[in-house]
Amino acid sequence: MYKRDIYTVLKNKRIAKDVFCMVLEGDLSFITTPGQFINIEIEGFYLRRPISICDWDDKTITIIYKAVGSGTRAMSNIAIGTKLDILTGLGNGFTISTGNKNPLVIGGGVGVPPLYALAKFLIKNGITPKVILGFASKDDVFYEEEFKNLGCDTYVTTDDGSYGIKGNVVDVISTLSDYDYFYTCGPSPMLKAVSKNTSCSGQLSFEERMGCGFGSCMGCSCKTLTGEKRICTEGPVLLKEEILW
Ligand SMILES: Cc1cc2nc3c(=O)[nH]c(=O)nc-3n(C[C@H](O)[C@H](O)[C@H](O)COP(=O)(O)OP(=O)(O)OC[C@H]3O[C@@H](n4cnc5c(N)ncnc54)[C@H](O)[C@@H]3O)c2cc1C
Ligand code: FES
Repeated sequence: MYKRDIYTVLKNKRIAKDVFCMVLEGDLSFITTPGQFINIEIEGFYLRRPISICDWDDKTITIIYKAVGSGTRAMSNIAIGTKLDILTGLGNGFTISTGNKNPLVIGGGVGVPPLYALAKFLIKNGITPKVILGFASKDDVFYEEEFKNLGCDTYVTTDDGSYGIKGNVVDVISTLSDYDYFYTCGPSPMLKAVSKNTSCSGQLSFEERMGCGFGSCMGCSCKTLTGEKRICTEGPVLLKEEILW
């Protein structure tokens, strides 16, 4: 179930290199689970742009997006007070695995945002995850403090070693032994590496390219044990065990 509505931009601010934080005000009744996403209509673009929900409260949604192409660059220029046409309630989101008390939360680049709401949900359920955030370089790092402020042990890696631990998230995973589950979101190669380098079960959120965003074009399918699954409707979160890489 999704809802189309009009949302007002309350904030649209740069927080890292080409990365922006946007706060939107409007109807939040269709947002139920961390890991869901919204689909934003941008003036002058035919296709909506999907962006994960980073956080939400009684009145607002926070999203974090990277300006990578013309659509997200146009988003970065949207003024405060602008009204946007948005679909909410999209995607299945993460399921909290309450039986696992020592999970890892692993994010790569713009895969980090949905993990913030997830970490808050886990903490509400009495589970404080360890957090691993991977970025290319120092200028790309965001939300380290926010995760630390939740009380999570937070490791930051950069590919070039300009900040935090030199390497990637898998280098940190290989040093940890006391985890029993994982939740991850990031680029597909990172998701595959996390899947191959963890001995436990987990959930992976895909940020694949999308067409329609609501299940009719098959433009976002992923091969699984039970056939093709559409990231936009049966995902974006899939179980480690079901994915055929
Ligand atoms: C479920 C979901 C959640 C997402 N959440 C976020 C988020 O929280 N923050 C965020 O910054 N981005 C997120 N994305 C990616 C975001 O939707 C794309 O970056 C955006 O649509 C690109 O639009 P554009 O017009 O700027 O780029 P385009 O002009 O369409 O493309 C520019 C460049 O970006 C590449 N690109 C486009 N879309 C993607 C994609 N999905 N993944 C990787 N590369 C892409 C293109 O191949 C091209 O190289 C998410 C995607 C999905 C499917
Ligand atoms: S984007 Fe069209 S089916 Fe998923």
